[in-house]
Amino acid sequence: MKRITIAIDGYSSCGKSTLAKQLAKELGYTYIDSGAMYRAATLYMLENDISPENIPAVVDALRHIKIEFRINPVNGQQETYLNEGNVEREIRSMQISNLVSPMSAIAEVRAAMVAQQQELGKAKGVVMDGRDIGTVVFPDAELKLFMTAKPRIRAQRRFEELMAKGDGSSFEEVYQNVLSRDLIDTTRKVGPLVKATNAIEIDNSHITREEQYNLALNYALQTIHQLSAKAD
Ligand code: DC
Repeated sequence: MKRITIAIDGYSSCGKSTLAKQLAKELGYTYIDSGAMYRAATLYMLENDISPENIPAVVDALRHIKIEFRINPVNGQQETYLNEGNVEREIRSMQISNLVSPMSAIAEVRAAMVAQQQELGKAKGVVMDGRDIGTVVFPDAELKLFMTAKPRIRAQRRFEELMAKGDGSSFEEVYQNVLSRDLIDTTRKVGPLVKATNAIEIDNSHITREEQYNLALNYALQTIHQLSAKAD
Protein backbone atom coordinates (compact mmCIF):
# COMPACT_ATOMS: atom_id res chain seq x y z
CA MET A 1 0.00 0.00 0.00
CA LYS A 2 1.19 3.48 -0.82
CA ARG A 3 2.04 5.62 2.20
CA ILE A 4 0.69 9.16 2.03
CA THR A 5 0.90 12.50 3.82
CA ILE A 6 -2.26 13.62 5.60
CA ALA A 7 -2.53 17.34 6.41
CA ILE A 8 -5.15 18.34 8.98
CA ASP A 9 -5.72 22.08 9.37
CA GLY A 10 -8.37 24.04 11.13
CA TYR A 11 -9.37 26.38 13.92
CA SER A 12 -8.17 26.15 17.54
CA SER A 13 -9.81 23.52 19.74
CA CYS A 14 -11.48 21.71 16.87
CA GLY A 15 -10.21 18.31 17.92
CA LYS A 16 -7.58 18.18 15.17
CA SER A 17 -4.95 16.49 17.31
CA THR A 18 -7.33 13.83 18.65
CA LEU A 19 -8.34 12.94 15.10
CA ALA A 20 -4.77 13.08 13.79
CA LYS A 21 -3.54 10.76 16.57
CA GLN A 22 -6.36 8.26 15.95
CA LEU A 23 -5.68 8.19 12.20
CA ALA A 24 -1.93 7.81 12.69
CA LYS A 25 -2.46 4.93 15.11
CA GLU A 26 -4.90 3.11 12.82
CA LEU A 27 -2.71 3.53 9.72
CA GLY A 28 0.63 2.94 11.49
CA TYR A 29 1.76 6.46 10.54
CA THR A 30 3.79 9.05 12.44
CA TYR A 31 1.79 11.83 14.11
CA ILE A 32 3.32 15.32 14.25
CA ASP A 33 1.68 18.05 16.32
CA SER A 34 2.91 21.26 14.66
CA GLY A 35 1.06 23.42 17.21
CA ALA A 36 3.16 21.85 19.99
CA MET A 37 6.25 23.17 18.20
CA TYR A 38 4.90 26.75 18.18
CA ARG A 39 3.88 26.30 21.82
CA ALA A 40 7.35 25.03 22.82
CA ALA A 41 9.04 27.95 21.02
CA THR A 42 6.66 30.32 22.83
CA LEU A 43 7.51 28.73 26.19
CA TYR A 44 11.21 29.28 25.51
CA MET A 45 10.56 32.97 24.76
CA LEU A 46 8.48 33.32 27.93
CA GLU A 47 11.11 31.65 30.11
CA ASN A 48 13.78 33.91 28.64
CA ASP A 49 11.71 37.08 28.88
CA ILE A 50 11.63 37.64 25.13
CA SER A 51 8.56 39.50 23.91
CA PRO A 52 7.08 39.00 20.41
CA GLU A 53 7.74 42.71 19.76
CA ASN A 54 11.49 42.18 20.10
CA ILE A 55 12.08 40.53 16.72
CA PRO A 56 15.92 40.49 16.81
CA ALA A 57 15.83 38.72 20.20
CA VAL A 58 13.22 36.25 18.91
CA VAL A 59 15.35 35.49 15.84
CA ASP A 60 18.45 35.02 17.99
CA ALA A 61 16.56 32.73 20.39
CA LEU A 62 15.41 30.48 17.53
CA ARG A 63 19.02 29.25 17.22
CA HIS A 64 18.88 27.92 20.77
CA ILE A 65 15.65 25.98 20.51
CA LYS A 66 15.64 22.24 19.94
CA ILE A 67 12.19 20.65 19.78
CA GLU A 68 11.63 16.90 19.69
CA PHE A 69 8.81 14.42 20.17
CA ARG A 70 9.38 11.33 22.29
CA ILE A 71 7.07 8.48 23.21
CA ASN A 72 6.38 8.06 26.92
CA PRO A 73 7.10 4.35 27.56
CA VAL A 74 4.54 4.22 30.37
CA ASN A 75 1.42 5.42 28.54
CA GLY A 76 2.57 5.28 24.91
CA GLN A 77 1.71 8.97 24.45
CA GLN A 78 3.85 11.28 22.37
CA GLU A 79 5.33 14.13 24.41
CA THR A 80 7.05 17.38 23.47
CA TYR A 81 10.63 18.08 24.56
CA LEU A 82 12.26 21.51 24.54
CA ASN A 83 16.06 21.42 24.81
CA GLU A 84 15.90 17.93 26.37
CA GLY A 85 13.23 18.88 28.94
CA ASN A 86 9.69 17.44 28.90
CA VAL A 87 7.37 20.44 28.44
CA GLU A 88 4.21 18.58 27.42
CA ARG A 89 2.17 19.87 30.35
CA GLU A 90 3.48 23.43 30.44
CA ILE A 91 2.86 24.13 26.76
CA ARG A 92 -0.89 23.39 27.14
CA SER A 93 -1.47 26.11 29.79
CA MET A 94 -3.68 29.14 29.17
CA GLN A 95 -0.65 31.42 29.57
CA ILE A 96 1.00 29.77 26.55
CA SER A 97 -2.32 29.67 24.66
CA ASN A 98 -2.56 33.44 25.09
CA LEU A 99 0.98 34.10 23.86
CA VAL A 100 1.33 31.53 21.09
CA SER A 101 -0.63 33.23 18.32
CA PRO A 102 1.33 36.54 18.40
CA MET A 103 4.58 34.56 18.54
CA SER A 104 3.58 32.31 15.66
CA ALA A 105 2.60 35.30 13.51
CA ILE A 106 6.32 36.24 13.25
CA ALA A 107 7.66 35.34 9.79
CA GLU A 108 11.04 34.16 11.11
CA VAL A 109 9.40 31.89 13.68
CA ARG A 110 7.23 30.34 10.97
CA ALA A 111 10.17 29.83 8.61
CA ALA A 112 12.11 27.97 11.33
CA MET A 113 9.15 25.79 12.32
CA VAL A 114 8.09 25.03 8.72
CA ALA A 115 11.64 23.91 7.85
CA GLN A 116 11.66 21.51 10.85
CA GLN A 117 8.19 20.22 10.02
CA GLN A 118 9.16 19.51 6.41
CA GLU A 119 12.21 17.62 7.62
CA LEU A 120 10.15 15.58 10.11
CA GLY A 121 7.60 14.73 7.42
CA LYS A 122 10.06 13.81 4.69
CA ALA A 123 9.41 10.10 5.05
CA LYS A 124 5.83 9.40 3.90
CA GLY A 125 3.32 7.94 6.29
CA VAL A 126 2.74 11.11 8.28
CA VAL A 127 -0.29 12.79 9.78
CA MET A 128 0.45 16.41 10.71
CA ASP A 129 -2.04 18.86 12.18
CA GLY A 130 -1.85 22.65 12.33
CA ARG A 131 -2.96 25.76 10.47
CA ASP A 132 -0.84 25.85 7.32
CA ILE A 133 0.04 22.21 6.74
CA GLY A 134 -1.97 21.75 3.55
CA THR A 135 -1.13 25.22 2.22
CA VAL A 136 2.52 25.83 3.16
CA VAL A 137 4.23 22.86 4.85
CA PHE A 138 2.95 20.07 2.57
CA PRO A 139 1.10 21.66 -0.36
CA ASP A 140 1.40 18.31 -2.17
CA ALA A 141 -0.15 16.26 0.65
CA GLU A 142 -2.32 13.52 -0.87
CA LEU A 143 -5.13 14.13 1.64
CA LYS A 144 -6.01 17.49 3.21
CA LEU A 145 -8.72 17.87 5.81
CA PHE A 146 -9.96 21.24 7.07
CA MET A 147 -11.78 21.16 10.40
CA THR A 148 -14.22 23.72 11.73
CA ALA A 149 -16.78 24.01 14.54
CA LYS A 150 -18.72 26.90 16.02
CA PRO A 151 -16.55 29.02 18.39
CA ARG A 152 -18.79 28.51 21.45
CA ILE A 153 -18.77 24.75 20.95
CA ARG A 154 -14.96 24.74 20.63
CA ALA A 155 -14.61 26.91 23.75
CA GLN A 156 -16.88 24.60 25.75
CA ARG A 157 -14.82 21.54 24.76
CA ARG A 158 -11.56 23.30 25.63
CA PHE A 159 -13.01 24.60 28.92
CA GLU A 160 -13.97 21.06 29.94
CA GLU A 161 -10.48 19.77 29.08
CA LEU A 162 -8.81 22.52 31.11
CA MET A 163 -11.16 21.97 34.06
CA ALA A 164 -10.33 18.26 34.05
CA LYS A 165 -6.64 19.23 34.30
CA GLY A 166 -7.35 21.53 37.24
CA ASP A 167 -6.79 24.79 35.31
CA GLY A 168 -8.99 27.44 36.92
CA SER A 169 -9.74 29.50 33.76
CA SER A 170 -13.36 30.62 33.35
CA PHE A 171 -15.48 29.73 30.30
CA GLU A 172 -15.44 33.40 29.24
CA GLU A 173 -11.62 33.50 29.31
CA VAL A 174 -11.41 30.34 27.22
CA TYR A 175 -14.03 31.66 24.77
CA GLN A 176 -12.18 34.97 24.37
CA ASN A 177 -8.93 33.06 23.80
CA VAL A 178 -10.57 30.97 21.06
CA LEU A 179 -11.92 34.14 19.36
CA SER A 180 -8.64 36.00 19.60
CA ARG A 181 -6.61 33.04 18.30
CA ASP A 182 -9.05 32.64 15.38
CA LEU A 183 -8.59 36.31 14.51
CA ILE A 184 -4.78 36.28 14.71
CA ASP A 185 -4.46 32.89 12.96
CA THR A 186 -6.69 33.88 10.03
CA THR A 187 -5.40 37.41 9.50
CA ARG A 188 -1.62 37.06 9.89
CA LYS A 189 0.44 37.86 6.79
CA VAL A 190 2.53 34.68 6.69
CA GLY A 191 0.92 31.24 6.59
CA PRO A 192 -2.58 32.34 7.65
CA LEU A 193 -5.18 29.74 8.50
CA VAL A 194 -7.05 29.24 5.24
CA LYS A 195 -8.67 26.22 3.68
CA ALA A 196 -6.52 24.79 0.89
CA THR A 197 -8.52 24.70 -2.36
CA ASN A 198 -8.32 20.91 -2.49
CA ALA A 199 -9.04 20.31 1.22
CA ILE A 200 -12.13 18.46 2.43
CA GLU A 201 -14.01 20.47 5.06
CA ILE A 202 -15.40 18.73 8.14
CA ASP A 203 -17.64 20.79 10.45
CA ASN A 204 -17.79 18.81 13.68
CA SER A 205 -20.17 21.11 15.61
CA HIS A 206 -22.88 18.48 15.59
CA ILE A 207 -21.18 15.17 14.95
CA THR A 208 -19.59 12.86 17.49
CA ARG A 209 -15.86 12.15 17.66
CA GLU A 210 -16.56 8.65 16.46
CA GLU A 211 -18.56 9.83 13.43
CA GLN A 212 -15.82 12.26 12.56
CA TYR A 213 -13.15 9.57 12.90
CA ASN A 214 -15.03 7.16 10.65
CA LEU A 215 -15.52 9.89 8.06
CA ALA A 216 -11.84 10.86 8.06
CA LEU A 217 -10.63 7.24 8.06
CA ASN A 218 -12.81 6.54 5.02
CA TYR A 219 -11.29 9.50 3.17
CA ALA A 220 -7.81 8.27 4.09
CA LEU A 221 -8.43 4.67 3.01
CA GLN A 222 -10.07 5.79 -0.24
CA THR A 223 -7.09 8.00 -1.05
CA ILE A 224 -4.58 5.27 -0.19
CA HIS A 225 -6.44 2.66 -2.29
CA GLN A 226 -6.85 4.96 -5.27
CA LEU A 227 -3.18 5.95 -5.27
CA SER A 228 -2.03 2.37 -4.71
CA ALA A 229 -4.19 1.16 -7.64
CA LYS A 230 -2.73 3.89 -9.87
CA ALA A 231 0.81 2.88 -8.92
CA ASP A 232 0.18 -0.78 -9.89
O1 DC B 1 -2.90 23.49 17.41
P1 DC B 1 -2.64 24.35 18.66
O2 DC B 1 -3.87 25.06 19.16
O3 DC B 1 -1.91 23.63 19.73
O4 DC B 1 -1.67 25.50 18.13
C1 DC B 1 -1.22 26.52 18.97
C2 DC B 1 -1.01 27.79 18.18
O5 DC B 1 0.09 27.65 17.28
C3 DC B 1 -2.18 28.30 17.37
O6 DC B 1 -2.91 29.28 18.06
C4 DC B 1 -1.55 28.89 16.14
C5 DC B 1 -0.18 28.32 16.07
N1 DC B 1 0.02 27.38 14.99
C6 DC B 1 0.36 27.90 13.78
O7 DC B 1 0.44 29.10 13.63
N2 DC B 1 0.64 27.07 12.73
C7 DC B 1 0.56 25.75 12.87
N3 DC B 1 0.86 24.95 11.83
C8 DC B 1 0.18 25.19 14.12
C9 DC B 1 -0.11 26.03 15.15
